[in-house]
Amino acid sequence: MRLRNFVMGCTLLASYTAVAQPSPKEDLPGDYLTPAFHAGRRDSLRQLMPANSVTVVWAYPTRNFSNDVDYVYHQNPDLYYFSGYKEPHSMLLVFKEPQTAADGSTFKELLFVQKRNAQAEQWTGKRMGVEGAKEKLGLTHVFNGEDFKNYQLDFTKFDKIILDRLPADVNDSRYDNADLFDLLKQLKEKAQIPDNYVQEKRFGTAQFRQYTGQLREIKTEEEVNLLRKAVEISCHGQAEVMKAVRPDMSEREVQGLHEYVHKKYGAEYVGYPSIVGAGNNGCVLHYQENEKLHVENKMVLMDVGAEYHGYTADVTRTVPANGKFTAEQKAIYEIVYEAQEAAFKLCKEGSTWGELDKVSRNVVAEGLIKLGIITKKEEANKYYPHGLGHHIGLDVHDRSASATLKKGMVITIEPGIYIPENSNCDKKWWGIAVRIEDDLLIKEKDFELLSWAAPRKASDVEKVVAEKSPLDQFTLPKLQSGKKGF
Ligand code: GLY
Ligand code: MN
Repeated sequence: MRLRNFVMGCTLLASYTAVAQPSPKEDLPGDYLTPAFHAGRRDSLRQLMPANSVTVVWAYPTRNFSNDVDYVYHQNPDLYYFSGYKEPHSMLLVFKEPQTAADGSTFKELLFVQKRNAQAEQWTGKRMGVEGAKEKLGLTHVFNGEDFKNYQLDFTKFDKIILDRLPADVNDSRYDNADLFDLLKQLKEKAQIPDNYVQEKRFGTAQFRQYTGQLREIKTEEEVNLLRKAVEISCHGQAEVMKAVRPDMSEREVQGLHEYVHKKYGAEYVGYPSIVGAGNNGCVLHYQENEKLHVENKMVLMDVGAEYHGYTADVTRTVPANGKFTAEQKAIYEIVYEAQEAAFKLCKEGSTWGELDKVSRNVVAEGLIKLGIITKKEEANKYYPHGLGHHIGLDVHDRSASATLKKGMVITIEPGIYIPENSNCDKKWWGIAVRIEDDLLIKEKDFELLSWAAPRKASDVEKVVAEKSPLDQFTLPKLQSGKKGF
């Protein structure tokens, strides 16, 4: 849903066009972000920073799943954006002015990384280490986390230390004296960060959000290419699922089909937990259980986005599982479609979120009044309880700093109508939930529809649901627990 707190501000667009070369020797994708991209982002950050300042960015903590198993690690998007480093227990410092090291060399950035450890790497995979980070990320001054403690740097000399709010929920591993807990503890000591640092002028937490918002809200060419890919992959997922969906499928099965298509195209993750809700379940905006065993002859709301090299799509389609919208479903679908079309007309540089929101909400309100579902315009929010859209990028609800659309922004437009059971309207509308969500690259006079590959018009959706799917042939044996096997 739409991000809050847009703050006005200017933007900088650095367009780094260096293209990663495919690496057939390692059999890996060839389109990762390049060191030049990350260096460019650091330079743009430096331009925004005031004189005599330093910006500190740390990794996200690791999270325990259960017992001795952790959740799959996901890097703090800010650290990834400015460095490309994907491992935990790390910290980046970006300086406004060049600094001089004890050995006389000068530097503008310091990166502290996880130390290499053969035993740990045998269990949890290869670490980049100091040498790897220098070679692969192009940073010159890289150290192990354990070196931060004694690193000669007088933080008190800076007029401003720009940093995000310190996380309060980081565990201290007793097996590691240079984990994130230790790095943050040492940072607090070195920079003399008091408990009330958010109020102190010497620390710029608001600036951190402002600068990263200004930078991240405008996508460079490299970022747009990755987003184009993430969105197209997600749309092919939507289209394939439309062909494959049948009333006897479960919500989870539908989710699995989306995610299989994502993986087939090389997407690493989903950008947020997949939302697959049949009928009334679609009224839960961030429904994640996906546990209904049969989607039946209902509409299925599918809000699913692939994450490709860190960048996430966010695409929603709502489809009749049996291939045909009922009259009531179609009536609601058409209002949402028209609300989206009305917003599309304003999608260009200079429009404000407020203007877009107003036109789409108006279409929804008038449509619901015409159908007799509400009597007054103000009641529409009850059935359309979220904002019109948000930025996407390294986060599904991506950081931004401006309420006005600008060239190079990538946003979602996602009106919706949700009529839960027992609502104060005719029973025939109960359990109908429709959201249509598309991803757009804002241009000067109009936009590029990144999510072109997923059918959107009601008639096109019906047409594609009627198509045959290769998955029609995909059958598995019934589970027969206890049977003797091979
Ligand atoms: N796709 C989930 C959301 O926009 O909140
Ligand atoms: Mn969204």
